[in-house]
Amino acid sequence: MPNEEFQGKDEKLIDPVAQDPGYDQTESQIAILGHPIHAMSVSFPVALTFCAFGADILYWWTGEAFWARAALWAAGTGFLFGMLAGLSGTAELLLVSGIRARAAAWTHFIIAVTLLALLGTNWGHRLYGYEDAVLPYGILLSALCVVIVGFTGWHGGKLVFDYRLGTSKGS
Ligand code: HEM
Repeated sequence: MPNEEFQGKDEKLIDPVAQDPGYDQTESQIAILGHPIHAMSVSFPVALTFCAFGADILYWWTGEAFWARAALWAAGTGFLFGMLAGLSGTAELLLVSGIRARAAAWTHFIIAVTLLALLGTNWGHRLYGYEDAVLPYGILLSALCVVIVGFTGWHGGKLVFDYRLGTSKGS
């Protein structure tokens, strides 16, 4: 067999990235007593993004100024808590070698930064006239934020539950 030495059955392909000495170091370093700060902080922007959309729908339905003001606050606090969550996530990404080495972590970063830009736009759009801002662009921005936060959270969950990033891998 002329090609045997190149196509041996037991020959294994080697991933050069996985050979990096820090590849298996994936445990969170931005944590309080072992509890990752990023995982604790993401609930706030996720929930507030949904609240902004809910308040916009209620304003559209009732015409009550209260809901437009609630949407302004939910959009603003969603953005600010999102930035805090983003800071802890970015520190984790840059400081932990095994997280930094995985492409999936960078994919999550790109989706999350897109989300933060949209959350900031949604807030800024409402700052000079929160009632007029709701229809149509405010509610459309809120709907888009809900879709993107869904992708961000789903993908973040994949990092933890599929790739075991931020965990000590149970050992
Ligand atoms: C902007 C930069 C961000 C980076 C670099 C980043 C990075 C990460 C990393 C490395 C993880 C794995 C767990 C860990 O190491 O703590 C993670 C998990 C996660 N991320 Fe982010 N993230 C960012 C922003 C966000 C934002 C803005 C959200 C949502 C609003 C979010 C939602 C999540 C969720 C839901 C998880 C799973 C947490 C769990 O189930 O325990 N991330 N992220």
